[in-house]
Amino acid sequence: MIADAARRLHAGGVIGFPTETVYGLGANTFDERAIEQVYQLKGRPFDNPLIAHVRNWEQAQELVNLDATPQTSHFKPHISNLTAHFWPGPLTLVLPKADRVPARATAGLNTIAVRSPSHPVAQQLLRSFGSAISAPSANRSGRVSPTTAQHVASDFAGVDDLLILDGGASEVGIESTVLDLTTSTPRVLRQGSVTVEQLRDALGRVESPELSAQAASPGTAARHYAPRTPVELVSSAQLPAQLAQFAQPVAVLSFDPQRIPPPHRVIGMSSSADEYARSLYDALRRADEAGCVRIFIETPPSRGELWRAIHDRLKRATAIESPTHDPAKPEASG
Ligand code: TXA
Ligand code: MG
Repeated sequence: MIADAARRLHAGGVIGFPTETVYGLGANTFDERAIEQVYQLKGRPFDNPLIAHVRNWEQAQELVNLDATPQTSHFKPHISNLTAHFWPGPLTLVLPKADRVPARATAGLNTIAVRSPSHPVAQQLLRSFGSAISAPSANRSGRVSPTTAQHVASDFAGVDDLLILDGGASEVGIESTVLDLTTSTPRVLRQGSVTVEQLRDALGRVESPELSAQAASPGTAARHYAPRTPVELVSSAQLPAQLAQFAQPVAVLSFDPQRIPPPHRVIGMSSSADEYARSLYDALRRADEAGCVRIFIETPPSRGELWRAIHDRLKRATAIESPTHDPAKPEASG
C-alpha cells in the first residue's frame, strides 16, 4: 500500500495519509498541478498555504532558505534546538522559502511551513516517496478535520479511486502547533499540543496571539473545524436548563453522560486533555451525523496549555459565520 501511494505521488496523484495529529491530503511539493488538485478536491481557497511534510530537518533544508532574512539567521541556533526537541512531531515551522519550491505550494508566499510527522506510516511513506509531501488536513474546507481513514473516506466519498492509507486513529487528534520563525520574535500562529510554554522553555520569548489576531495566519477564518449542525458551548451549570428548552434531540458532548436526559443523545468526553483532544473531532462528526437540532459542547476547563488549544478549536467550531459570508464561495479555512 505504501509503495502504491508513493507511486501515485510520483505520477502526480493525490493521496490520503495518517499523521499523529490529523489525516493529510498529500501531493508532491514540487508538482504544481498535483498541488492544484489538492486545493480543488478540498475546496480550499488558493490563498491558504499548505504545510510541506518531510522526513527530517535534512530534507526540510531542501525547501527553506535560511539566508533569506537577518531575523531568520538570528534564529538558526533555535531551529536545531526545536527540531531536536520536537521533531518528528506536531510542530510546524514557518521559514523563508527556497526558490526551487513552486509558488503554488505556499500560496505565493515567500515563506514555507514545514513539519516532520512522527506517525510511522507517514514516515514510511516519506521514505518510500523520497521527497516532500505538501498536505492540508484531509477534510473538505471549513469542516471538521479527520482523525481516521473512515473520516477521510466519508468527506471524499464522491472522489473516484482516492487512495487512503489507514494508520488507525490519530494519537494527538488536533492539528499541529504552527510557529512562525520569520518574525523578529517567534510567533505562534496556531496552538496545538506542543505548547507555548514548551516553546518558551526552548526559545525564550515567544508571542502567542489570541484567536482574534490569528487571522494573521493566511487564509485562516474564525469559523473553522465546524459541523453542519448549529453548535454551542454550554457551561455545566447551564446544561440542564438549556436542554430543557428542546423537545427534539440535542447531541451533547458531555463530561458526565448520566446528567443528559432523553431524548437527547450523549457522547461522553474525557476530562483528560490528551484524551479529549484525541476524540474531539470524531465526537463532533458523530454528533453532526446524529440528526439532532443542535450540538451542545459542555465547556471544558480552561486551565492548562492543551486545554487552551482545545478551546481554540471549540471557538472556531462554534463561531457564528460572518454576515458577509457568501455561501457560494468556499470558506477561507484549512
Ligand atoms: O497537524 C497538521 O498540521 C495537519 C497535518 C496533516 O500535518 N495539517 C494541517 O494543515 O492542519 P492545514 O492546511 O489544515 O493547516 C495549515 C495551517 C493553516 O492555518 C495555514 O494558514 C498555515 O498552516 N500555514 C501554512 N503555510 C504557512 C505559511 N507559509 N505562513 C503562515 N502560515 C502558514
Ligand atoms: Mg485544516
